Amino acid sequence: MPQHRPRLIYLVGFMGSGKSTVGATLARALGWPFIDLDTTIEAGQGLTIRDIFEQAGEPFFREVERAALTEVVKTEPAVIALGGGTFVQEPNLELVRARGGITVWLDCSIEELRRRCEGITNRPLFRDAASFVQLFHQRQAYYELADYRISTEGRNPEEVAEEILRLQMF
Ligand code: S3P
Repeated sequence: MPQHRPRLIYLVGFMGSGKSTVGATLARALGWPFIDLDTTIEAGQGLTIRDIFEQAGEPFFREVERAALTEVVKTEPAVIALGGGTFVQEPNLELVRARGGITVWLDCSIEELRRRCEGITNRPLFRDAASFVQLFHQRQAYYELADYRISTEGRNPEEVAEEILRLQMF
């Protein structure tokens, strides 16, 4: 276990919950680097997330995601936006716990998440309404393991980032 709590904030939550936008805002306010795990993966592979899923499949994406996570947690301090599925893979959960830091779940209703994701075509796991809802329910139990839960319902990234800052975690 690390001797001190690393200055790392991981944002977890479903697709469309605001991890990337809130993360960038929060990092700016803290003066910390912001790392978007999906962007890191895309840069490393030279492919979009959609193309990785289409060309190599989800199991390969999860391997690459795990490798990218292993690298990014070495940066400190940092705000890290995980992908919607990162925190629900047990080895990733264990890695985050072992590394330490704070996990914040950006919670939002399924209705608003659907509205936010509709029309955006770069999410391979947003196929249809039924599978979106099913995945949402499957994942809630994992997101609930986060240290903090913050609602992003009807709120802009600045408001959410301010609420996270008020937690005074460090
Ligand atoms: C995924 C969510 C995406 C991306 C990939 C898989 C998921 O990230 O990592 O498409 O499993 O829910 P966002 O949550 O940033 O959309």
